Amino acid sequence: MSSASSARKVAVITGTNSNLGINIAYRLLEEVPSDERLTIVVTSRSLPRANEVIAKIAEYNANVTKRESILDFDYLLIDFSNMVSVLNAYYELTKRYTEINYFYVNAAQGVYAGINWLQATKDVLINPLEAVTNPTYKIQRVGVKSKDGMGLVFQANVFGPYYLLHKIKPLLSNGKARVIWISSIMSDPKYLSFNDLQFLKSDSVYESSKRSIDLLHVATYENLRNQNITQYLVHPGIFTSFSFFEYLNVFSYYGMLFLFYFARLLGSPWHNIAGYKGANSVIFASLKANPEEGDTQKLKYGSATRMNGDEYIKATSISDPSGAADVLKYLNELTAEWDEKLKDQILETRKF
Ligand SMILES: NC(=O)c1ccc[n+]([C@@H]2O[C@H](COP(=O)([O-])OP(=O)(O)OC[C@H]3O[C@@H](n4cnc5c(N)ncnc54)[C@H](OP(=O)(O)O)[C@@H]3O)[C@@H](O)[C@H]2O)c1
Repeated sequence: MSSASSARKVAVITGTNSNLGINIAYRLLEEVPSDERLTIVVTSRSLPRANEVIAKIAEYNANVTKRESILDFDYLLIDFSNMVSVLNAYYELTKRYTEINYFYVNAAQGVYAGINWLQATKDVLINPLEAVTNPTYKIQRVGVKSKDGMGLVFQANVFGPYYLLHKIKPLLSNGKARVIWISSIMSDPKYLSFNDLQFLKSDSVYESSKRSIDLLHVATYENLRNQNITQYLVHPGIFTSFSFFEYLNVFSYYGMLFLFYFARLLGSPWHNIAGYKGANSVIFASLKANPEEGDTQKLKYGSATRMNGDEYIKATSISDPSGAADVLKYLNELTAEWDEKLKDQILETRKF
């Protein structure tokens, strides 16, 4: 058996059953050498959704990629807004694997209450490109907390994944892993207040979480490199999200699609529209980027599409990285606090 055919890659994709998540999986099937065994660990908060996405990825392999070597699947039921669930995921990963090669922080949630249609219409009429690039008419609830008492979006999108990565660092080091954080173009400095690092007062709480991720990356990637972990920050541009369908009817859905294509015609590089194209930067950062050969980790790599539909990578700088150390300090203090709280939790669980 050649060394290539005995190689194995383990990839964890959080929130696999999202448009981006499943396309990350499809593109891994295409890009990881076919003679390497590939294990995809899907995560979801529910077993039916985990099973459903595994079936879809297996079907893609049967019909499209037809990989030569073993393709196998595993699943983890994780709710990042529940620290016991995050701890359990750590425990399961450590039991099942000695190394992890790719970890995608893709799962994310918002606290949307709907769309302000009046404002949306006004924004589209005044500046359609801006309206579908930086939408501000999605109504977000303010001050929503998780059952653990933390800002819900903060915990689900930032702290929960950060805590899991902290716990599984030995597996990531063993696998010389690539860790990919999925950010957004909507992560301007204005979205984060350093007096409100759990975003409890923010009315743009989703964007606050993405800004926090940008700063977290800036504060950690160099130190991780010394531990054999290569971390990149990426964003998928704009594509149709499965989770937003509930707020749209057939007219608003096709209206949105029309405006997305229109934005592309007006020269927007970010309207990828398809999840497959959105995953381009994610795959670039995990399989192709080389920090030694100019693909600096200082930048944020975005999925972009030309007017004719061709995809490409467009890197941008991370705006005003000052304050990164404050975000990291805050997360590390919270990590120490939860290490302490969950020590008892493990003991309690193991009693049964
Ligand atoms: N759509 C866009 O245009 C766009 C733009 C910029 C960035 N992004 C980013 O791209 C990523 C994927 O976006 P998407 O629109 O494809 O995703 P999505 O439809 O919003 O779904 C996100 C996934 O996250 C999982 N999830 C949600 N809350 C969770 C929690 N508390 N714990 C664990 N898992 C949770 C869900 O899985 P289960 O329900 O199965 O648990 C779901 O599949 C996200 O990070 C998003 O912020 C998207």
